[in-house]
Amino acid sequence: MNKSFELSLNNLSKLTAYLQKTIAGKDCVVLLQGDLASGKTTLVQEYLKSLNLTDEVTSPTFCLQNIYEGEIYHYDIYNKTLEEFISLGLLEEFEKEGIHFVEWGDETLEELLRSYGFEILIIKIEKLNEKRRYTIYA
Ligand SMILES: Nc1ncnc2c1ncn2[C@@H]1O[C@H](COP(=O)(O)OP(=O)(O)OP(=O)(O)O)[C@@H](O)[C@H]1O
Ligand SMILES: [Mg+2]
Repeated sequence: MNKSFELSLNNLSKLTAYLQKTIAGKDCVVLLQGDLASGKTTLVQEYLKSLNLTDEVTSPTFCLQNIYEGEIYHYDIYNKTLEEFISLGLLEEFEKEGIHFVEWGDETLEELLRSYGFEILIIKIEKLNEKRRYTIYA
């Protein structure tokens, strides 16, 4: 069951409302897949805003993980191999209750997480002119 949205910056609430229905209060890993500057970090920002959470969402590229209020975790695994990622203990992190957003979470990570029984949501983001297309795969 896939769902797709084409949204500009100022109507991302359609996407966040859908995400809230789908994942809020669950334990799950959300793999954010999209080119450089497609809008992965923005999506996490908007998700927190939609929950009225006021933490500042920044790109975790250089620190690997940000933790926000509301049991929301945010990772960026750009430029890291899966082996490095795992040796840093991040599978253990994923076991913590809450929502885990992973920028650049690819198919290899997807398969690994499935094999460990994690609940997964995949969001593919494509750049359009003034918008983005978000396709969500459960
Ligand atoms: N739905 C949207 N419509 C139009 N522009 C958007 C949308 N979402 C994000 N953007 C814009 O795209 C740019 C990149 O956003 P963002 O930093 O979230 O991308 P990213 O995928 O996290 O980038 P990186 O690959 O560097 O981590 C920003 O200028 C942001 O405002
Ligand atoms: Mg980013």
